[in-house]
Amino acid sequence: MEDWNVTLYRQFEKERAQPSVDLVNRIAGDSFKRIIDIGCGSGMSTLPLRNRFKEAEIMGADSSPSMLTQARQTLKDVTWLERDCSKPLKDLGEFDLVFSNAALQWFEDQAKVIRNLSEMLVPAGILAVQIPYFSAMTIARCIAEAVKTYDGAIFDGIEKDLFNSYSPGFYYDELTEHFSKIELWQTNYFHIMNTHEDILKFCMSTGLRPYANRFEESQKAGFYNRVLREIKKGYTIQKDNKILFEFKRIFFIATK
Ligand SMILES: C[S@@+](CC[C@H](N)C(=O)[O-])C[C@H]1O[C@@H](n2cnc3c(N)ncnc32)[C@H](O)[C@@H]1O
Repeated sequence: MEDWNVTLYRQFEKERAQPSVDLVNRIAGDSFKRIIDIGCGSGMSTLPLRNRFKEAEIMGADSSPSMLTQARQTLKDVTWLERDCSKPLKDLGEFDLVFSNAALQWFEDQAKVIRNLSEMLVPAGILAVQIPYFSAMTIARCIAEAVKTYDGAIFDGIEKDLFNSYSPGFYYDELTEHFSKIELWQTNYFHIMNTHEDILKFCMSTGLRPYANRFEESQKAGFYNRVLREIKKGYTIQKDNKILFEFKRIFFIATK
């Protein structure tokens, strides 16, 4: 797949940054020595960690060179690593806090990832994660409807490239295998958008990437238009002409 478009991703920075701020604020304790941000992207999720845990050694790991280039420019006193985090990262040593915001959904085998991440923690270490609950959102239905309008062949085998979206119950069951204490919650954010096109733009740099990558450059606009048509059907315009883009997110903080 093509590398991430960082400029597009950062276009909705305020909306994308809030969940990592909320997650960092819920973590108890301040004496962490070593922290890692898994799928750190451009460093947006690493910033609230750096701001709160001023004395800690912090690493950010991601597989995207373009995201890491931006991260390196954003925060200097973090060690940035280009790594495929779906593979074990034990060579990095143990951590007091393993953090991940809006990244694990891109990993194919989430049960394995949770196990791998738990093995990176010191005794009583903490795993703190936020994952979009994509399958439960209206936008997932809009994309599915647009996809249905195409001959299946173009999207053959796309499942392996897509978001993995599991229920809170799935995460609870996986976490109980490796952790002694679990906090699990869901937040529904309402992003206030000016237009339906903004909802499309929000998704173009994330959930729509695997679909768009199947098209030639000249065909992409046609695909986006079909998604936009469904977005217009799925999201009501408010009295002040704004649109509420409901975004469901699952959070957990698990203690080893
Ligand atoms: C939606 S972005 C989130 C970035 C950042 N955590 C934030 O909150 O802004 C998802 C990130 O996960 C990274 N990612 C996806 N699969 C990965 C993998 N196997 N190993 C490392 N990073 C991965 C992507 O490169 C991307 O930067």
